[in-house]
Amino acid sequence: MPLHKGSNRDKEPSKERRRRALNPFFGEADPTAGMTSAPPRHRLPDGPLPPSTAYGLVHDELMLDGNSRLNLATFVTTWMEPEAGVLMGECRDKNMIDKDEYPRTAELERRCVAMLADLWNAPDPTTTVGCSTTGSSEACMLAGLALKRRWAARNADRYPAAAKPNLVMGINVQVCWEKFCNFWEVEARQVPMEGGRFHLDPQAAAELCDENTIGVVGILGSTFDGSYEPIADLCAALDTLQEHTGLDIPVHVDGASGGMVAPFLDEDLVWDFRLPRVSSINTSGHKYGLVYPGVGWVLWRSPSDLPEELVFRVNYLGGDMPTFALNFSRPGAQVVAQYYTFLRLGRDGYRAVQQASRDVASGLATQIEKLGDFHLLTRGDELPVFALTTAPDVHAYDVFDVSRRLREHGWLVPAYTFPANRQDLSVLRVVCRNGFSSDLAELLLEDLRLLLPELRGQRHPLSHDREVATAFHH
Ligand SMILES: Cc1ncc(COP(=O)(O)O)c(C=O)c1O
Repeated sequence: MPLHKGSNRDKEPSKERRRRALNPFFGEADPTAGMTSAPPRHRLPDGPLPPSTAYGLVHDELMLDGNSRLNLATFVTTWMEPEAGVLMGECRDKNMIDKDEYPRTAELERRCVAMLADLWNAPDPTTTVGCSTTGSSEACMLAGLALKRRWAARNADRYPAAAKPNLVMGINVQVCWEKFCNFWEVEARQVPMEGGRFHLDPQAAAELCDENTIGVVGILGSTFDGSYEPIADLCAALDTLQEHTGLDIPVHVDGASGGMVAPFLDEDLVWDFRLPRVSSINTSGHKYGLVYPGVGWVLWRSPSDLPEELVFRVNYLGGDMPTFALNFSRPGAQVVAQYYTFLRLGRDGYRAVQQASRDVASGLATQIEKLGDFHLLTRGDELPVFALTTAPDVHAYDVFDVSRRLREHGWLVPAYTFPANRQDLSVLRVVCRNGFSSDLAELLLEDLRLLLPELRGQRHPLSHDREVATAFHH
């Protein structure tokens, strides 16, 4: 997506401009003025419009956006209860940074951090430090920065003159980790995929570590196929590394999605602060945290895991507030909505909601497998997400054709190619979220069934440019 250019003047001919005008009978529009009102699109209009006219123009254009509930590409919440919407509307003027002006909103943020610390089994939830962010990307930047600063403090004699920090991760990481490494000048050391392994291998990760490794990122679960990375095995491999070399490498768990799934559905899976090597964890409140975009969370095991010099003390808004965030101003409504959802659902409610999504995912995966044309890479039994490819004997069409044809029915199911060393593999991914009911899943299956005879009748796959992923949200 290109950066916005500010110089695009309104060059459209007048006929073109007239076509964009409103229905003359709409709202307060002046019916005798006909269809002549045509505000420019790429420069500020000379004068104002009545609110109903401006609303109508914007509203009508937005009708061409997709239907978010049919978007099986995104992990981000597309349905909340009306009460949550009301609460968010009531809080739309609250700026998260004005903690002195909005002390109750700040208190709700603090309570959410405490609840997450408890949920993720922090050794002492009362001293766990953490904050809300705009999403997991910002949370990962903050966690990565803390790792880098801690490493830099330990290596002050060599850095920056004689050492370059690196971060070890699977090649399946979300793009925010590549951004982190690029923005903060850290070498990204990535473990490639191999054969049927589509995420990080603990031993291979440990082998990439050296004295300049600031940490290892483990993902719960992978954006590419919904699988959980083996966090406990990763910690064990790093324990062995420490025994042999003395290197003590911390782990950050990117629980963007799984941080709000595993605690409810996989209670026996040990992946969180129960593992002493896990120093920080992030999640997206706006994914399986079940809040509209954008809210994320990042927590550190203890105050010593977050270097004090990264925390800014803001006092010119009337109080002395510690903050750690990339943004200054930020909406408070999402944090309020997160607290509402925690209160509304509780552990049992979250368990029920996530179990329903997982049931839909595994049920749909099994039904698709029964069609005979597809091979499942994952089955939706970790994140409620599964990835599939075409069966070896399918030559008439490929996953890009399936994605394109499903789009004609309104469904957004992305198709994309895997990274090294499995660039030969192209997959479809289905993300099941709260609101994607078994009823909707049945309709998707029906549409797929309808399309199959036509797809099988193709002479060859129609997608020529295999590099172009379709709406892949990773
Ligand atoms: C594993 C993982 N990390 C980080 C992110 C980025 O999260 P956000 O979109 O909340 O910034 C994602 C998004 O899909 C993700 O799946």
